[in-house]
Amino acid sequence: MATLRHFLQFNDCSRAEIEYLFARARRIKDRLRQGHSTRTLEGKTLAMIFEKASTRTRVSFETGMGQLGGNVLCLSKNDMQLARGETVEDTARVLSRMVDVVMIRTYAQTMVETFAAYSRSPIINGLTNEYHPCQVLADIYTFIEHRGAITGKTVVWIGDPNNVFYTWLQAATLLDFKVTLSSPQGYPVDDARLTAAERARLEIFADPLDAARGASLVTTDVWTSMGFEAENEQRRRDFQHWQVNAALMKHAAADAVFMHCLPAHRGEEVTDEVIDGPQSLVWDEAENRMHAQKALLEFLLIGEVKTS
Ligand code: CP
Ligand code: NVA
Repeated sequence: MATLRHFLQFNDCSRAEIEYLFARARRIKDRLRQGHSTRTLEGKTLAMIFEKASTRTRVSFETGMGQLGGNVLCLSKNDMQLARGETVEDTARVLSRMVDVVMIRTYAQTMVETFAAYSRSPIINGLTNEYHPCQVLADIYTFIEHRGAITGKTVVWIGDPNNVFYTWLQAATLLDFKVTLSSPQGYPVDDARLTAAERARLEIFADPLDAARGASLVTTDVWTSMGFEAENEQRRRDFQHWQVNAALMKHAAADAVFMHCLPAHRGEEVTDEVIDGPQSLVWDEAENRMHAQKALLEFLLIGEVKTS
């Protein structure tokens, strides 16, 4: 039986483990394309708890676990006793006696940490206010698929330094690449959240065009993340100049790619021209959530897989 591991933040894995996951995702994806099944998790059960909406995370985990031969329970917090006062600790104790792995999408990172502390089964962060590690795992896998190694490259983040941004910064530190950022005044990086190594990976620019200069990967996200909807109108005004459009893409490297975790608000943080344009990898990026997470599920449940 594999040792109990969780994936709550990107750097819960070592560089070597992340590189294993990329290689394994490649293998699983190739096998699927060739019509071979990979049923390494027969008889295992994944439970997913959602406190926020999801399209990609739900479908990629549910389909991926099914393809690996496992079962899936999709639970909405509102339908659970969690919504009626049962504690996270007690829920973790009970669920982890019945299921083999739990994916959670919630608000506070402390909720997934508490869940993990009381769980006998691996816990996967399917997005919190602080991090979205499964997303960046798939994103970097996608970059490698199209452009090769990310080490030494520059990734530019345009707009809100949110959960996905902080995860990119963890990945940059682990995998040795640079992140540049431009965000509006009033939306700074929370320096208290950064390690010295993360700070060293980050360069901040007032002007988004300066941040984009020479970048190999241009990425952005919605101006208002889930849970911050009350700030929607204010953010629409504050972020209007932080848009990935054709003019901004011209400042990036000639072979730069565009990525967005999706869902996108077209016409806000990204134009149709860019998201539907030749540099955009967003659909491969979305698909690769499934392949990368299949590798992750295997890794957490049975360790590194050498064959099949
Ligand atoms: N990118 C992502 O996590 O999408 P969903 O919110 O649809 O799961
Ligand atoms: N930053 C976004 C990502 C959605 C997948 C959010 O948290 O809503």
